[in-house]
Amino acid sequence: MSLDWSSDHPTPAPVAPISEARIDRAGGRVSVDDKAMINCRADVNQLLPLKYKWAWDKYLAGCNNHWMPTEVSMQADIALWKSRDGLTEDERHTLKRNLGFFAASESLVANNIVLAIYRHLTNPECRQYLLRQAFEEAVHTHTFQYIVESLGLDEGELFNMYREVPSITDKAAWALDFTQHLDDPDFTTGTPETDRAFVRDLIAFYVIFEGMWFYTGFAQILSLGRRNKMVGIAEQYQYILRDESIHLNFGIDVINQIKAENPHVWTPEFQAEVREMIKKAAELEAAYGRDTMPRGFLGLNAALCEQYMHFIANRRCAQLGLHEVFGETENPFPWMSEAMDLKKEKNFFETRVIEYQNGGALSWD
Ligand SMILES: [Fe+2]
Ligand SMILES: [Fe+2]
Repeated sequence: MSLDWSSDHPTPAPVAPISEARIDRAGGRVSVDDKAMINCRADVNQLLPLKYKWAWDKYLAGCNNHWMPTEVSMQADIALWKSRDGLTEDERHTLKRNLGFFAASESLVANNIVLAIYRHLTNPECRQYLLRQAFEEAVHTHTFQYIVESLGLDEGELFNMYREVPSITDKAAWALDFTQHLDDPDFTTGTPETDRAFVRDLIAFYVIFEGMWFYTGFAQILSLGRRNKMVGIAEQYQYILRDESIHLNFGIDVINQIKAENPHVWTPEFQAEVREMIKKAAELEAAYGRDTMPRGFLGLNAALCEQYMHFIANRRCAQLGLHEVFGETENPFPWMSEAMDLKKEKNFFETRVIEYQNGGALSWD
């Protein structure tokens, strides 16, 4: 079809650009009291005044933790991966399944933020954090691309595990249902049932996916790293873990704030349902543990991972104000808390700052 440049066709009526058409010119300035987590009618384009300082603080913390996977040297990992007896067959099996689980999971989490959460969380400071988190999930996905490329792994095998390995597919399919429910263009919050559906998605992703399932994955890799194996990947996982612990805490704060503002959502029935979700998630994780570690290796096996999941599940219940789902459980991996206290002053950060300064000397010629 060609364009018609003649002047004798009727001029269409002027239409305001969509962004301008929706501006409420008569609306007043937003005050803190107008702001709310969900179902809020106040202008979402006014970040200030802040109501939820915890959300803004997490945005700042995320920015302070900025890192890129390519800043971590993979030389030692490449040498070990290519050597004949540097890793046992069991260690290789666990490592590949672990990478396969994370490779797709980071995208599932990112898609859930963009397609399911962002639209319904009606607060600008929380959205500011979501934008930062979405970028961090992209950095995490990038990490798996970088690992695949560095070690020369089969990319099809790794990125399809979430479809082809049943214990991984079961977890992905469980979570994907929640995204799809909210992704429906006709879905809106505003009734007790739909508000609850939104909170259900937040629990599925922040508390269970990122707050439970990722933690077995971190423990597997960091336990290798503690024995000086795959130290580059272990370092990347420490940075991912640092990011994820903020994602988890943001999610917990969001859920608890929604509960406080909308007590009708948090019925005894719903609380019982959430406890069941957490229990079911721990079972799925135990199956994944048996599948990734059929025999286990030094310091790590499926039974210990299951115990760890029970410990984590109880902790998540406490954070949500729920009764624990498992009997008293001790943390079998106390060293995981050390791994979380990662200090930023690592050498490669110093190197990077210098590189950024070089990059900042832009020429406009
Ligand atoms: Fe992530
Ligand atoms: Fe995350």
